Amino acid sequence: MNFVVYFKYSKRFFPLMIESETNSFIRTVEWKDNKVIMIDQTKLPNQLVFVEYDDYNQVAEAIRNLVVRGAPAIGVSGAFGLGLAALQSNSETKDDLISDLQHAKQILFATRPTAVNLGWGLEKIMTVAKSKDSVEEIKKSVIFIAKQMADQDIEINKTMGKFGAKLFENNDTVMTHCNAGALATVAYGTALGVIRATRESGKNVKIIATETRPIQQGSRLTAFELKHDGFDVSLIPDTAVGYTMANGLVNKVVVGADRIVKTGHVFNKIGTYQVATMAKQHGIPFYVAAPLSTIDMESKAEDVVIEMRKGTEVTGIGDKKTAPDGINVINPAFDMTPPELISGIITEKGIVKAPFEESIKSLFNKID
Ligand code: MRU
Repeated sequence: MNFVVYFKYSKRFFPLMIESETNSFIRTVEWKDNKVIMIDQTKLPNQLVFVEYDDYNQVAEAIRNLVVRGAPAIGVSGAFGLGLAALQSNSETKDDLISDLQHAKQILFATRPTAVNLGWGLEKIMTVAKSKDSVEEIKKSVIFIAKQMADQDIEINKTMGKFGAKLFENNDTVMTHCNAGALATVAYGTALGVIRATRESGKNVKIIATETRPIQQGSRLTAFELKHDGFDVSLIPDTAVGYTMANGLVNKVVVGADRIVKTGHVFNKIGTYQVATMAKQHGIPFYVAAPLSTIDMESKAEDVVIEMRKGTEVTGIGDKKTAPDGINVINPAFDMTPPELISGIITEKGIVKAPFEESIKSLFNKID
């Protein structure tokens, strides 16, 4: 693995801003010269560091350690991981190569349990691999499809953004939680994609970003990404959600999702449920933006596994210890927001509202 520190953050050299017509922007994750290149998100906002991987085990480690995170970004990373596994394999028969890919898939899949996009991306690649006849064909098509998934992620986010932009008015102040932006996808973002598209449609929006403890995707990534791209963004501690809503400082909420089940229950970063509950209390519309690859039509809400992360994420901030030694910690990475708190789900096939069981199903019957 190579670590390449390009430069400390500098607006001049860091075009995260999405040029919607030209696609000339940095990708969170990409395939280049038979390697996977990622922005190391654990180093943001202080340094922009790119990491290069040529082994799928390194990609698995990167997903586990949050070098790359956000449901769509880990879906594409998983697919790229299988691309590397195909290149790494010395198998000479189709069956042996499929078995190598199956093994890599298990390792990649075990990294993070909640976001459905990871399993979706891995499954899509395995289906393509199995449909081919020769080792050469499999290797070529696995890489081709993984790269196509990355390109499609951006297109999907832009389409979703255009639908979502219609829900926002000029001079709205929109709260978001965690990071569902360019950094959580290949580029452009889901929830932040909607905010970008709203601005591109000529409307002025302000954003309130929650800090998102324990590992601060809101302050490290969302505040960084939006500020860099010239948005009027204010950062709040998670504990100020109620204050800002009660004092009329917010009039809409938009968040991303890691998994949405067919009943409309939304699994997203821990704290989303609190934000949604507060929004309901204050009559503030609460929207979720997510691609169809985040929708899980199979699982029941009660069967979704919530990832539990290590206690040290809570007992300290960065390297600084902020809790007594030996303290018990409960550190769930995600929570579930029930459908009755959700005003609408924005997807690349349109916006759906309650009753979600019917409206979500209808999304899958829509033809482009
Ligand atoms: O633990 P993370 O940082 O991977 O959690 C990410 C989120 O919860 C995002 O809100 C979600 O993946 C949507 S990203 C477009």
